[in-house]
Amino acid sequence: MKILIIGNGGREHAIAEALLKNKKTECVYISTHNGGAKDRIINAELTNHNIETIDEFLAKTQIDLVVVGPEQFLSEGIIDHIQSKGIKAFGPHKAAARLESSKAFAKEFMEKYQIPTAGYFRYDNYDDALTGLPEFGYPVVIKADGLCGGKGVSICQNEKDAVRALTDIFHNRIFGNQGTEIVMEQFLSGFEASLLCFVSGNKIYPFDTAMDYKKIYDNDLGPNTGGVGCISPNPYWTVDLDQQSNQIIRQIEKGLAQEKLGFTGILFIGYLIENGKLYVLEFNTRFGDPETEVLLPRLKSDLLTNIMQAIDDKPVELDFAANVAMTTILVSQGYPGKYETGHEITGLDLVDPDILIYHNGTKQIIDSSSDQKTKIVTNGGRVLSVVAVKENLAAARQAVYNNIDKIHFDNMSYRTDIGKIIEIYKN
Ligand SMILES: Nc1ncnc2c1ncn2[C@@H]1O[C@H](COP(=O)(O)OP(=O)(O)O)[C@@H](O)[C@H]1O
Ligand SMILES: [Mg+2]
Repeated sequence: MKILIIGNGGREHAIAEALLKNKKTECVYISTHNGGAKDRIINAELTNHNIETIDEFLAKTQIDLVVVGPEQFLSEGIIDHIQSKGIKAFGPHKAAARLESSKAFAKEFMEKYQIPTAGYFRYDNYDDALTGLPEFGYPVVIKADGLCGGKGVSICQNEKDAVRALTDIFHNRIFGNQGTEIVMEQFLSGFEASLLCFVSGNKIYPFDTAMDYKKIYDNDLGPNTGGVGCISPNPYWTVDLDQQSNQIIRQIEKGLAQEKLGFTGILFIGYLIENGKLYVLEFNTRFGDPETEVLLPRLKSDLLTNIMQAIDDKPVELDFAANVAMTTILVSQGYPGKYETGHEITGLDLVDPDILIYHNGTKQIIDSSSDQKTKIVTNGGRVLSVVAVKENLAAARQAVYNNIDKIHFDNMSYRTDIGKIIEIYKN
C-alpha cells in the first residue's frame, strides 16, 4: 500500500512512522518536505501545495490512501475531492470539518446538544458586538469564526482590549473572510486537556488523554505557540473527569447522527476544567500537534488497521500501552515571533536508541563540505520533537532532557519544565 500524508510537520512524521509498522505499508509520502524523511518515508516535494499538484501526484504515483494533517485542506473539502476519484482518504468531509472551520457552527452544535461550553453570543457586525460586551464582564474572549492559523482568539482583559479586537476584526479585517463573524464568550479559568478520538460512522472511540504546553516560556509564561511540549496521559485527568467526558461524547455522537454529518476521521476535543467541571472550548477535526507525537508511540493497536476500520464505518479497536510519553519541542529562538532558519542540527546520531525524534521544521540539504552527503538544518519555529516513552513520567522526563543535551543547533531554545507537576494546574 502506498500512502500520501498531506502536511509535513512532527505530527505527519509521527503518523508516517506509525503507518510503517504495518507490513502492508510499502512506503509513505510526505506531501512537501520533512527533514526526517528516510528509507520508506519519502518527500513528495509538492512545492505548489494545492489540489492540482496533489491530483497529479495521486495519479502518477498510484496512491492507495491519503491521510490529511492540516485543517485548511479539510475545510476546503479535500476528502470529498479525493474520494470522488475513487481513492481512499481519511478525514472528515467538508461539511463535518465545519466543526473546526466555523467556531459559530461548533458553538451552536454544542448548545443544541447540551454539551457544556462557555456562554456565548455570535455577531456579524461591529455595532452589535459592542453592545454585547457588557454581558460578559472581563476578561472576555473574542474569537473570529474561521480558521486563523491559531491566531483568531483574543482574551481581552478590559474594554479597551475588546474594542481593539473588534476593530481589528470588523474594520481592519485582519482575518479577511475568516472574520466576517465572531463568537464572543465567557472566560473560563482552569487547566486544559486534549482528547483525540477516532470517529467512525458518527461513533466516537477516544484515544488516551494528553496535555499540551502552549506557552513559550517555563511556568506557562509568554505568548501562545502551536505547542512546545506534551505529555500523555494527562496527569490531571481523573475518573470523575472521564465520566463527564464519556457523557459529553455520547451527546456529540447524538449530534453527529442527528445533523447527518457522516463524520469519519479524528475529532479533537479541547477541554477546559474549571472547578472540577469539564467544558468544551473547541473542536478540531484532525490529529493535534504535538499530541500526536506522544499518543501514537503509546498506541498498541495498529494505526493503519484503525484508519481502515474508520473508513469502513466499523468499530475502531484502539489499544494503548500503560506507559507515559513525553515530548519537549526544540524551537528556534524568537519563536513564536521572528526567528532564523538554516542552522545545522548535530547530535541526532548520539541520542539513545529508544528515543524518538520527530521533525517539525527541518530540511535536508546537500553538505558540500562532505562528499555530497546530506545534512539537516532548521527550517521552522518548532524544529524537533524529542520523545521518550517510559514506565512513568519521571523516567520519561529524565530521558527527554538527558538526550536534548546531545542535540545542538545555533539559537536552539526549549522549555525546561515540561512534565514537571505544577500546582497551578490542580483545581
Ligand atoms: N472561553 C475561554 N475561556 C478561557 N480561555 C479560553 C476560552 N476560549 C479559548 N481560550 C484560550 O484560547 C486558546 C485558543 O482558543 P481555541 O478556541 O482553542 O481556538 P484556536 O485553537 O482555534 O485558536 C485556548 O486553548 C484557551 O487557552
Ligand atoms: Mg485550540
